[in-house]
Amino acid sequence: MTLSYIISLVIFVILAGLTFYSFFIGAPYFKTPKKAIKEALKLADLKPNQKLYDLGAGDGKALIIAEKEFGAEVVGFELAPIIYAVARLNLFFHGIKKAQLYYKNFYKQDLSRADIVFCFLSIHAMKRLKPKFEKELRPGTKIISYSFSLHGWTPKKVIEGYPGKIFLYEV
Ligand SMILES: C[S@@+](CC[C@H](N)C(=O)[O-])C[C@H]1O[C@@H](n2cnc3c(N)ncnc32)[C@H](O)[C@@H]1O
Repeated sequence: MTLSYIISLVIFVILAGLTFYSFFIGAPYFKTPKKAIKEALKLADLKPNQKLYDLGAGDGKALIIAEKEFGAEVVGFELAPIIYAVARLNLFFHGIKKAQLYYKNFYKQDLSRADIVFCFLSIHAMKRLKPKFEKELRPGTKIISYSFSLHGWTPKKVIEGYPGKIFLYEV
């Protein structure tokens, strides 16, 4: 076994471990369809200069659409290292300069400055986020969740057929 082989193996194991960790504590990586992102942002009535937080930003597509097409200030958190790197490249190639994308765990971030929170996560993650939303989000903050509802909250609106459901909540 050569040294370079061992180093590659160690790097692979670390990256795979970090990726698995983010999938385990939040949600695995799946893309929200572009059409669903646009519809969700319209549903939330996202306006220029409003702050949109994407919890689990994936490949950064929602950040790109929110900034380019809606003029929003965007903030994203992504914890899977390879997906984070892909998002960084996507932002770069789309000429997105103002977006703030962090390689951070969203459970540990302060969400109080968000006007709109976007998420496509899992049942487990929504349950874990609920008390955080209740504690940190300001009255009037909107939450748009693709596919997963917030248990115990009544959505203001639900639209279907994208192909999943889009839930809109307001604090
Ligand atoms: C289903 S994907 C959604 C990606 C993107 N928001 C979209 O809609 O296309 C969920 C993403 O959340 C990330 N994630 C899961 N738990 C996380 C955490 N605690 N902090 C940051 N990112 C997390 C995963 O790595 C994955 O990329």
